[in-house]
Amino acid sequence: MELFDVYPLYDVTPVKAKGAYVWDENGTKYLDLYGGHGVISIGHTHPEYIKSISKQLSKIGFYSNSIQNPLQQELAEKLGRISGCEKYNLFLCNSGAEANENALKLASFVTGKSRVISFKNAFHGRTSAAVAVTDNKNINAPINLQQEVTFLPLNAIELVIQEINKGDVAAVIIEAIQGVGGLDEGTTEFFQQLQKICQEKEVLLILDEIQSGYGRSGRFFAFQHHDIQPDIITTAKGMANGFPIGGVLISKKIKAKYGMLGTTFGGNHLACAAAISVVDVIKNENLIKNVNSVYNYFLEEIKSVSKVKKVKGKGLMLGIEFDFEVGELRKKLIFEKHIFTGGSNNKNLLRILPPLTINKEQIAVFINALKELLA
Ligand SMILES: Cc1ncc(COP(=O)(O)O)c(C=O)c1O
Repeated sequence: MELFDVYPLYDVTPVKAKGAYVWDENGTKYLDLYGGHGVISIGHTHPEYIKSISKQLSKIGFYSNSIQNPLQQELAEKLGRISGCEKYNLFLCNSGAEANENALKLASFVTGKSRVISFKNAFHGRTSAAVAVTDNKNINAPINLQQEVTFLPLNAIELVIQEINKGDVAAVIIEAIQGVGGLDEGTTEFFQQLQKICQEKEVLLILDEIQSGYGRSGRFFAFQHHDIQPDIITTAKGMANGFPIGGVLISKKIKAKYGMLGTTFGGNHLACAAAISVVDVIKNENLIKNVNSVYNYFLEEIKSVSKVKKVKGKGLMLGIEFDFEVGELRKKLIFEKHIFTGGSNNKNLLRILPPLTINKEQIAVFINALKELLA
């Protein structure tokens, strides 16, 4: 059997990883400034992470959601405490798309409505409702066009109000910082006005923190830069450092009912053990402080790189925009300088999403590589 060929591949085969480094089959060492799409939060093969998963695996790896699993409660408590979101309830699933799918479904259950407002250039995943609120026609199949979605420009609050006033909107879904779209974000004023109109008209505000959450922006959730409290928060990527998991944080005003949501694998013992160790490491190693200190260093150092048009994003969710397409630069970074970076819908933008454990010396290596390649 051959693989279903849906991914354009770089010719690199990682076989080993540690911290912010990855090694290929020939022993070449790469600096990982992409963390496999922003998934690696506490660094590759962190010893606490290995210990937690291995210990759990030798006890019980999986049982269904029809029995008691105290690890889910432990994760909910620890996540509530570290994020300051103690007043939410947690539903566990398996991926980012699934978290958004459940969030949108909840909003529709609660309001009895079905239209959703999303934003230009948004990316929310590839399942049915999640892909429908993703602003990319190429990845929406005819079956996905049944969803009622209105895409609006970021920061255009008057347009949002106009749509909400039509009375048929269940939810507004928004990334705190756009990832795949290219690191654009709403202003604080916009987020606050969005919350206000949603509250006034009983529309649910869903913050997609799948890429921007878990400390990556320099706060636990990136919406916390704007002093708002969404009705629903979705999370995935950094949540278990590569072990598949997703989470939906749900305001207590939304009441649960048996059967409302469900999953076979979501919140299984191994996924919880992985996710608990991530929260523990973020706390014990003070990683959010590290994100902010490395970010400040990056902002200073990037000034010395010529041809940079703009730096976008926050913390360790960054976009470096040039006035040329960066495809060739990314290839040179991989094959000449042995540094992984990412791209986005904005072809002029290098996206970096390193492990939150990265240090200033490793950022300096990247800055020097950029200088040499752009000289
Ligand atoms: C903001 C955002 N939402 C949702 C998703 C979908 O997550 P997953 O690929 O885990 O389904 C992604 C993935 O890139 C994302 O960046």
